[in-house]
Amino acid sequence: MEQYVIRGGKPLQGEVIIGGAKNAALGILAAAVMTDDTVTIENLPNVSDINVLLQAIGSIGAGTRRINKNVVEISGKDINTLCVEDDYIRKIRASYYLLGALLGKYKKAEVALPGGCNIGSRPIDQHLKGLRALGAKVEIDNGMIHAEAERLTGAHIYFDNVSVGATINVMLAACMADGRTTLENSAKEPHIVDVANFLNSMGANIKGAGTDVIRINGVKELHGCEYIIIPDQIEAGTFMCAAAATKGDVTVRNIIPKHMESVTAKLIETGAKVMEGMDYLRVIGTDKSHATSIKTLPYPGFPTDMQPQMAVVLALAAGTSTITESIFENRFKYVDELIRMGADIKVEGNIAIIHGVNGLKSAAVNAPDLRAGAALVIAALAASGCSDVNEIRYIKRGYEDFDVKLRALGADIEEFSDERDALKFKLRTG
Ligand code: EPZ
Repeated sequence: MEQYVIRGGKPLQGEVIIGGAKNAALGILAAAVMTDDTVTIENLPNVSDINVLLQAIGSIGAGTRRINKNVVEISGKDINTLCVEDDYIRKIRASYYLLGALLGKYKKAEVALPGGCNIGSRPIDQHLKGLRALGAKVEIDNGMIHAEAERLTGAHIYFDNVSVGATINVMLAACMADGRTTLENSAKEPHIVDVANFLNSMGANIKGAGTDVIRINGVKELHGCEYIIIPDQIEAGTFMCAAAATKGDVTVRNIIPKHMESVTAKLIETGAKVMEGMDYLRVIGTDKSHATSIKTLPYPGFPTDMQPQMAVVLALAAGTSTITESIFENRFKYVDELIRMGADIKVEGNIAIIHGVNGLKSAAVNAPDLRAGAALVIAALAASGCSDVNEIRYIKRGYEDFDVKLRALGADIEEFSDERDALKFKLRTG
């Protein structure tokens, strides 16, 4: 059992360097197999989701050479199967990006149907709608998605709801279709733009990424390139919330402040100070934080991936706050864990009503998913006493060296897999 043991109550102080964006990297790694040339990808976050997708890419015969923990070379030249094994999909949903990539390049792909994550049902109907519109025959049989096309032909596709995954998956297939594709009601997240920029550096012809209309002129072939992944806006936002919740003073560096605008605005509404530089934001927490309201929306709205972390800030803010989760139907599972730490939160449907409390108390809590796990770490850092955060495998899916970076900001946090060692830490820091 891996856990973080955290002795809270200390304001975080100092500077943290943000890594590459996990949700851009997943689309970019899948896109990399679409050329037979070699692609070099830098600023790759060294997190388990990325490492699982690299294994999936290797399992179909593509060459993957890890130059170091944050740089990888990929070559799609020797791909020898178009069937992506089920266990890779079960481990991470994003392996389904190989559906669009392999269909675009080889006009055929077989990928296991992704499992529903524990934040909602997460259907893929918009992915399938887009691929079928391009002319692919897509069938689901025995839990596998079979997609095949004589040829892919550009189409005018309107997504019934804004979907990051569907926008990326269909963009992958469309960039090697014959003719022009227009994607309407597309997702506009920074990671969509990063995947499009990566594809364009491979010779694709994509315009409008970052707006809700993306225009793609298909090309016959893609070539190799070198690419640096953008900084991770959710990792950055997580450290910004940790600074605010612990009333600390933290500079979050190597970021694109524009990507953080909704998080910055909301932290300022609670009374935190945020100072902006070219590639950093400095967040100074306040003793007198106050309530505000949040509604999660597609970018540039407040990100659903920042919702649990912001809930911890609001749990400590005087007054009554509300969080409306409009993207996923089951993303408040962490609330019961926060209540065990003394938070006063009531969930009614997709709305959490939060009455701020003066302080949280340590407890043993279990991470139910990636971002909720990060939020529980923030809560433990703000709480008095020594907390255990269990099931940290979820956190390692999306945060590289999370404990190392927090220790560098003054946090008393250690990772343990042995109860006895955990006890020694508690006694030592007690
Ligand atoms: C991506 O998931 C991210 N994951 C999620 O981050 C993020 O929460 C989400 O986008 C929203 O920003 C990756 O990028 C790997 P969606 P995705 O398709 O693509 C519904 C994290 O913590 N929908 O934008 O699965 C869906 O049910 C993870 O890093 C359909 O109805 O999200 C949801 O309600 C968690 N049909 C909404 O759209 C579809 O075909 C948005 O989902 C697809 C989606």
